[in-house]
Amino acid sequence: MRQAGRHLPEYCKLKEQYTFHELAKTPELAEEVTLQPLRRYPLDAAIIFSDILVIPEAMGVPYNFREKGGIRIDKQIRSLADIESLETTDIPEKLAYVPAALRRVRKAIGEEKTMLGFCGSPWTLAAYMLEGGPSDHWHTAKAFFIEENPAFHALMEKLVEASISYLNAQADAGVDAVQIFDSWGAACPGAWYREMSLKWIEKIIAGLNGRIPVIVYAKGMSHHAEQIAQTGARALSVDWTVNLPELKRELKDRLAVQGNLDPAILDTTPELTRMAAQELLESMRGHQGFIFNLGHGIHPSAKIENMIALTETVTQFS
Ligand code: CP3
Repeated sequence: MRQAGRHLPEYCKLKEQYTFHELAKTPELAEEVTLQPLRRYPLDAAIIFSDILVIPEAMGVPYNFREKGGIRIDKQIRSLADIESLETTDIPEKLAYVPAALRRVRKAIGEEKTMLGFCGSPWTLAAYMLEGGPSDHWHTAKAFFIEENPAFHALMEKLVEASISYLNAQADAGVDAVQIFDSWGAACPGAWYREMSLKWIEKIIAGLNGRIPVIVYAKGMSHHAEQIAQTGARALSVDWTVNLPELKRELKDRLAVQGNLDPAILDTTPELTRMAAQELLESMRGHQGFIFNLGHGIHPSAKIENMIALTETVTQFS
């Protein structure tokens, strides 16, 4: 999940000097932002500072941030012609700043710590590209899937191909695993979840040929765990609504589970954070294949003392 960001004063300080894009595209700065949370907390993995929207950007659909927060995409996709004009060549070259930052991070953290790469699921990326930003209901994106199905397929094929080459470039740069964020899978009707989202994640995983383990983050879709397990993912990362030990029992040893503390706890107190983390850890005692994580990214309102309490509780648990 997002570890870096606005809850850290040192990140906010850099943001006074540089834009998000400058931070992400300058390997030295991306390295610095990636390492900031690791300097403060006893984390055992670093997730590279970047964004899922770098792929649409490399294809010719840039993104920006709204004044008051939130994503803005001006060049919305509306037709097959728009999709045909998307650039799919030289994606790894255009995104070379990411592996460059990864190589720097690896040098800095050594082999002991895990380094994670990531990308967005094709559906989640398409949802942003079709809506032009975040949406409460994703009706434009869903209507496109229904009414313009061949064009939707063409878009997904392009996103899959770009994602495979991008994740391979991350693997070349030494990531230990990659996470595919399907943040908006829950917009899909259950019966169409596979057609709209999972199928394309599965194609990416197949395209990687087992080179690196893939973690799938499926917000709001853990009731499709059985289907997700069949994509070839090695771990399923879930949000805080899920009963984690139950999910683990359902999946048995086929898949690791990752999650799922509610990041809202980080707005409270160190004591309450410690108690909540301890409770989750106890509930997973004895289960093999569990990666402690938050159920979503760290919010700007998270308190540093709570992040310290959380990471200490997890690393000291026995
Ligand atoms: O910890 C890290 O540095 C990891 C890097 C990371 C970012 N985004 C950096 C970022 C990761 C893994 C992401 C993933 C991402 N980006 C997702 C999937 C995970 C999820 O949250 O569901 C999605 C949907 C995005 C798109 C995106 N980027 C959103 C919705 C936002 C928030 C916009 C806002 O203003 O609230 C971003 C911006 C973003 N990406 C920030 C960071 C650190 C915050 C930037 C800032 O405030 O300066």
